Amino acid sequence: MRRTMVAGNWKMHGTRASVAELIDGLRNLNLPKDVEIAVFPSELFIDRVINGLEDAPILVGAQDAAIESKQGALTGEISPEQLVGAGCKFVLIGHSERRLILGESNETLNRKFAAAQASGLTPVLCIGETLEQREAGQTLEVVERQLNAVIDEFGIDVLASAVIAYEPVWAIGTGLTATPQQAQDVHAAIRAQLAQKNPEVAQGVRLLYGGSVKAANAVELFSMPDIDGGLIGGASLNADEFGAICRAAGN
Ligand code: PGA
Repeated sequence: MRRTMVAGNWKMHGTRASVAELIDGLRNLNLPKDVEIAVFPSELFIDRVINGLEDAPILVGAQDAAIESKQGALTGEISPEQLVGAGCKFVLIGHSERRLILGESNETLNRKFAAAQASGLTPVLCIGETLEQREAGQTLEVVERQLNAVIDEFGIDVLASAVIAYEPVWAIGTGLTATPQQAQDVHAAIRAQLAQKNPEVAQGVRLLYGGSVKAANAVELFSMPDIDGGLIGGASLNADEFGAICRAAGN
């Protein structure tokens, strides 16, 4: 059985004051035990969030990590090994904001993916099509290409210790959510694609949906058979809303 996961991507949000408030709110939530819950703060606040959530059933991940797993001379970067040392469990790889705004290539992302796994971080590999690609009927081709970039280089078995997040770019931060059926269709196609290569990995890997998930649409999305939880942006900045989404993922 795949354990449902709800992950909160805080992106480049937060001040010392707002992060302290968010930590307080998260500590007081009533959270389901059967859901794995994680938050991804700005790297500036990771240490503080890990300390603040020490007794809460919430894990912490990073939004990015360096292409080398060990610490060294790489100005401005944070290595996976450092993140593990700080207490991080996960790292986002290939979020569309990094692919599209910062121009991160599959080659760079592959190096980050490998460096993360080498240090014991679980990569959350983000994939998804733009509106233009969806309208051109290229959705499945695009996500397949993004996944194959990893599989062709490292083999499918590396996905046994990763999480995949399908996030249609047109649904991120726009208030437009994929319908549960639209999301399910892509998730099912991803799982089928993986199953051709390794059925066991396909059955075991968690596929999260991301893109304007909120408490009001979470139950419906999470009830689809191939949606194993969500990657939540905007709504994860409000502790009560995030708590409600986590409960929607519980049984
Ligand atoms: P959103 O962001 O929930 O604000 O749409 C999702 C994401 O980018 O992970």
